[in-house]
Amino acid sequence: MIDQVTVDKVLETANSQIVEVVSDYVTLRRRGINFLGNCPFHNEKTPSFTVSPHKGIFKCFGCGEGGNALNFVMKHDQLSFVDAIKYLGNKFNIHIEEEEYSPEQLKQKNERESMMVLSEFAGQYFSKNLTETDEGKSVGLSYFRSRGFRDDIIEKFQLGYSPEMRDALTKEAQKQGYKLEYLEKTGLTVVRENYQADRFRGRVMFPIHSLAGKVIAFGGRILKNDKKTAKYLNSPESEIYHKSRVLYGIYHAKQEVTRKDRCYLVEGYTDVLSFHQAGISNVVASSGTALTSDQIRLIARFTKNITIIYDGDPAGLKASLRGIDLVLAEGMNVKILLLPDGEDPDTFAKERSEEQLIEYIEKHQQDFIKFKTSLLLADAQNDPIKKAQLIQDIVRSISIIPDTITRSVYVKECSTLLKVDERVLMQETGKLQKKKLEEDFRRNTPRPGSSPQQTPVRSGTQVAPTPAPSQNQPANPLELEEREILRFMVKFGERPVNPAEEESVTVGQYILHELKQDDLLSANPLYNKMMEAYDAFGAGTQMPALKFFVNNSDPDLSKLASDLIGKEHDLSRIHNKFGVVTHAEEKLAELVPKIVMELKWKKVKFVIKEKRLQLQQLEASGNMEELMEVMQELSTWQQVLAHISKELGGRTIV
Ligand code: CTP
Ligand code: MN
Repeated sequence: MIDQVTVDKVLETANSQIVEVVSDYVTLRRRGINFLGNCPFHNEKTPSFTVSPHKGIFKCFGCGEGGNALNFVMKHDQLSFVDAIKYLGNKFNIHIEEEEYSPEQLKQKNERESMMVLSEFAGQYFSKNLTETDEGKSVGLSYFRSRGFRDDIIEKFQLGYSPEMRDALTKEAQKQGYKLEYLEKTGLTVVRENYQADRFRGRVMFPIHSLAGKVIAFGGRILKNDKKTAKYLNSPESEIYHKSRVLYGIYHAKQEVTRKDRCYLVEGYTDVLSFHQAGISNVVASSGTALTSDQIRLIARFTKNITIIYDGDPAGLKASLRGIDLVLAEGMNVKILLLPDGEDPDTFAKERSEEQLIEYIEKHQQDFIKFKTSLLLADAQNDPIKKAQLIQDIVRSISIIPDTITRSVYVKECSTLLKVDERVLMQETGKLQKKKLEEDFRRNTPRPGSSPQQTPVRSGTQVAPTPAPSQNQPANPLELEEREILRFMVKFGERPVNPAEEESVTVGQYILHELKQDDLLSANPLYNKMMEAYDAFGAGTQMPALKFFVNNSDPDLSKLASDLIGKEHDLSRIHNKFGVVTHAEEKLAELVPKIVMELKWKKVKFVIKEKRLQLQQLEASGNMEELMEVMQELSTWQQVLAHISKELGGRTIV
């Protein structure tokens, strides 16, 4: 673990020399006070990638990517937080002090590391067995060859063979000094009271790599076609292997996924191998587990575009339909390609060259509306009930998409394709959206009087960055207004709200106090985290809030901060509304209370609306006890609203 002081020092140095950091990767030209270049995160011909040495941030106006120097190297080199700090420390000759671990942390770290080292050893053991022993060569290697896998692919993926013996690996590992404890914890050895045995015996082995390329688990395939035994045996869940968060092939795919800005999603180990062998490496597999949101978010770190390529059998079809909604819910774009019956991506790729394969995919992948339509329309064409069901089905998928504009694009397409009035479709998606919004809101709204949710503020270094949470969150009804407030907090947090007053509170203190006293948390946890972090830091201090946030060791926060201040033109929007176009800082005493009150007003209105809805439902169900309780709450909120309205000068805002 790197201590906080060092992290801060590295961040400050790197951000203040962000031009130098970025210049290692991008050719920059001075343009006014900023620098301009071609964005490394998307393909562009005219440069829209801007670096501000003054603010210590970068921002691409083409693809929207932005952040500080740390965010840049993390994204560009796909590094973890710790590795990025180490890289920058090295670049600027800052010695990285590693902090002492607590005994508990040490134990956990040692345990994980021991398991990783052992897994790496096992990987090597299996691969040596495949290429250097008689049994391995005659059974394992010849199997891979018979399936047409080339040696370079076998090597690239460290494929191996586990000998047909009871405890060959367990014995060898112990001989080399590895403890039985870790053999058991990684699942390599099955330990019973009176015997120990290798989990994998007489199987060809597929090591599963972490995002960073470390072996963390295995899949082992039997060689016979024995209907009674499961074809694949996989490592169990462990401290280092969480199935639902890993994708087979992600380490070997990530760079190409970024470059191609698309990820192919297939089902199995051999599908991934065959794609690589055909020359296509932006491919991953969910491997045996049903696809999860975590897995999709893992892909989302590298691209927003996924093509699902599954078998054309009923199971593949079902899995694709499920996959579609999962991908849409993450705000990503999904295309689907079902292969002809009887083919899977493995066999299909083997019969084609890279060009043929890509051409086929390009030509046959369909967006989800066309996919669902072509699937069901043949049936539904002359059957109005079936057609209505199909429309409902598609509308439901559309309503899952978080982005309004994307939603409307799909509504248009659906309308054209199915010859349904666009307005009707809009209405239907609107209804579903609203229902979902209300459900989300119910889940996220604290009751009055309850204590605010504690969002843990990450102390710094041990946790890998999570993908931008905003993508995974339910739609936030007050997104714009909340961002506006946060923008003021980031830009002017340390300034006095009213410089004319001697003991004026700061903008940060004012905002935090006002929003907290009524428990008005955001539906977006990241926004709450930002406020919590500033609160914990001490909103009254002199240090510029901008510096605190842009240099924040939590990459989520520094990225959000750069996003907020990266689009200065947005600030003018609200200024115009108040008739102020320039110099927001001169009007803080007027602006800050106003935007805070407006947000509060809107928030409370929302809560009240939602309480009324709840009341209606309770009335219908006749649940008197809860009804009374909600009525009580409603009246409290109405008082809050009255109070705010008064502060807003009694004017009614529409
Ligand atoms: N799988 C599994 N356990 C099984 C069967 C399948 O874990 N008993 C997982 C494996 O990750 C496998 C994937 O599901 O790769 C897809 O299954 P399938 O298409 O049957 O396997 P393939 O990868 O195509 O394997 P092969 O081509 O060797 O038959
Ligand atoms: Mn297969």
